[in-house]
Amino acid sequence: YQIYATMQNPDPDRFPVIHEEWENLARKKLQDGPFYYIAGGAGSEKTMRANLKALSKQEIIPRMLRNVDQRDLSVNLFGQKYPFPILQAPIGVQSIIHEEGDIGSAKASAEMGVPYIASSASSVPMEKIAEAMGDAPCWFQLYWSRDSEIVASFLSRAEKSGYSAIVVTLDTPMMAWREKDLKNVYLPFLAGEGVANYFTDPAFLTKLDKPPQEDPQAAIIHWTKIFGNTGLTWDDIDFLREHTKLPIILKGILHPEDAKLAVKKGVDGIIVSNHGGRQVDGAIGALDALPDVAAAVGDKATILMDSGIRRGSDILKAIALGAEAVLVGRPLMYGLAVAGQRGVKEVMQNILADLDITMGLAGQSSVSNLEASLLRKME
Ligand code: FNR
Repeated sequence: YQIYATMQNPDPDRFPVIHEEWENLARKKLQDGPFYYIAGGAGSEKTMRANLKALSKQEIIPRMLRNVDQRDLSVNLFGQKYPFPILQAPIGVQSIIHEEGDIGSAKASAEMGVPYIASSASSVPMEKIAEAMGDAPCWFQLYWSRDSEIVASFLSRAEKSGYSAIVVTLDTPMMAWREKDLKNVYLPFLAGEGVANYFTDPAFLTKLDKPPQEDPQAAIIHWTKIFGNTGLTWDDIDFLREHTKLPIILKGILHPEDAKLAVKKGVDGIIVSNHGGRQVDGAIGALDALPDVAAAVGDKATILMDSGIRRGSDILKAIALGAEAVLVGRPLMYGLAVAGQRGVKEVMQNILADLDITMGLAGQSSVSNLEASLLRKME
């Protein structure tokens, strides 16, 4: 609203407003490797497009004359109140995107009161991220390693360093067929500091013959062997429950039957997500999966959603269809690429101002009251 209050862009030469312009600027700034690491998806990128299509197929039917003077964007998640219904999605190895990396984007989240979800594959140790965030909300994302000592170590480090929830990513038991990454022969973790969160983990280090500083190649090779676990089943959720008291949120649920299994296992939340179209090419668009998952879960767990959120109206649609809040991924990484911490904050502010205005214009004064009747799905 700064823009409208002054009738001019507060700083017209500095940052773009349009999402696509941020992406274009990031394209100019980054080499092929890091740019396509962010922008690319699995296979033909059909699912990446399906995410945007699913959102654009939903049309808002605005309501009038409903006193929208005061608009409340706040949400309650796992007993905590947050000012906005967004979270920063976990993204690995951000040091290859901008020198401020994971710490820069975490601090932008902290400035906004938006929970930051630190990736297992962060390019700085999780303790450093937590420290940089001070009292601001941060959650830890677990890549479930086939080495259960590393899993236990990550969970205990997360608790000790002040993370308040564990996001367990289920859709990545192994790297997907990402054609652009393969074409660029670009393994992002080979650059910069690598996956420092692993390279400083006591359990990980005991499995190496030499420290990663002395033999980075061997450390990376070991990492690729242990990072995922294709042998997991639903019964393994019990292991997580035994190793942490924090809320457990399963990321990557698309099928309503899996949502029911998650509820049966007593998890606290689920994230309806196809990893931004980066895992199964041809998978259902995340917003299309949301209503059936929401119906299967009812009020037995907290539902979040990601994949394809770009603008305020996208957030409104996801919440109307059953999510309590959404995660934002690539847009914030384009912000990071262009201007580090300042860029991430600017993109967040734009998305949230857009949401606030869209809510008001659609006759909605509270994100907790958004209902599916506000939408119609185009054929
Ligand atoms: C991701 N994502 C991801 N997820 C996760 O659980 N751990 C991770 O380390 C990463 N790393 C990662 C890197 C990059 C470059 C991207 C773009 C994505 C997935 C991410 O958390 C989220 O699910 C998607 O980004 C959401 O889709 P949008 O908003 O990017 O369309």
